[in-house]
Amino acid sequence: MTDGRLRMTPGPTALPPEVREALAREPVNPDVEAAFTDDYRRLLEKLADVYGTDDDVVVLGGEGMLGLEAAVASLVAPDETVLCLANGVYGAGFADLVETHGGDPVVHEVDPAEEFAADDVARLVDEHDPAVATMVHCETPTGLLNDLGAALDVLDDAGVVTVVDAVSSLGGAPVPVDAIDVCLGASQKCFSSPPGLATLSVSDRAWARVDETPQDSFYLSLEPWREVELESGEPTLLPYTPPVSNLNALEASLDRLLDEGLDAVHDRHARVAEHCRARGREMGLELFPPAARASPTVTAFHVPGEAERLQRTLADEHDVVLATGIGEHADDVLRVGHMGYNAETERVDRAMDALAALR
Ligand SMILES: Cc1ncc(COP(=O)(O)O)c(C=O)c1O
Repeated sequence: MTDGRLRMTPGPTALPPEVREALAREPVNPDVEAAFTDDYRRLLEKLADVYGTDDDVVVLGGEGMLGLEAAVASLVAPDETVLCLANGVYGAGFADLVETHGGDPVVHEVDPAEEFAADDVARLVDEHDPAVATMVHCETPTGLLNDLGAALDVLDDAGVVTVVDAVSSLGGAPVPVDAIDVCLGASQKCFSSPPGLATLSVSDRAWARVDETPQDSFYLSLEPWREVELESGEPTLLPYTPPVSNLNALEASLDRLLDEGLDAVHDRHARVAEHCRARGREMGLELFPPAARASPTVTAFHVPGEAERLQRTLADEHDVVLATGIGEHADDVLRVGHMGYNAETERVDRAMDALAALR
């Protein structure tokens, strides 16, 4: 059953019918029933396929933020320097997580119109010798997709462990996962699963760092997830009881992506994003980020001082739910999420028709 409302926010997205059905299935007991082991192994294989990686993948029961903090908590030792590349709310926010776990953040803040230049990153690595670097692929609040390739190359050469928040791009845009040590995703974004799962890929270099880092948190530590045994015919010994229904839903989401094919999924997101922006241009709307760097998963229109009113009216009069900006740009940015199940022309058209009616 759906309530007829169109939710075009940059996560959580609407759920496809297969995902809702999987969510409603009777959950097995994962601590006791051996059948869960095969289900779980299959889920991890599909997740690794969607990540496009041979690295380990880990699924944590909790929202995307849990993945960010688990990565920082597990990789950063007291007083260790962490380079935080930032051109938005989430990039800058990593510094708070680093401080919380006793690290020393060096924040390299650039204007959203600029890339993280290789020369700057190399200079900062020389000056500060960071153990870990953090950055964001898609800055959801401004709809900005960062090209991280040059920065990742420099950091890889220097042996710095890289943590990339790809929460709102993974499964909607190509992510350079194999150049990343820990790549973070979340179920409710491009996977179009319900909120409640954080996903991580973890490279051998990142695991080695976890091994040598004193763990300052029991629950946030990735350490117990390394040696999960998946013996066929035996119950799985996961560190804690997993949210089975969310895992069932995630598998149905991954099936959809893999059945369509990842290249086709990425093309669909790019096409629908362009359609959304073309509709915006027809209405005289400008993009918030530089157009060349706008994400295929979310469009942020610049509507100075109008976003909250537009959001309210769209919901009240058209049953269309969009998102405003966050923080200082809350009322200046109106965001249309076109990720996962919502990356469909008809859905974007319904949202943009409603917006057009208000202008
Ligand atoms: C880029 C990015 N990182 C992290 C998060 C945090 O995810 P969650 O809200 O699931 O904790 C979000 C949420 O929107 C996000 O857009």
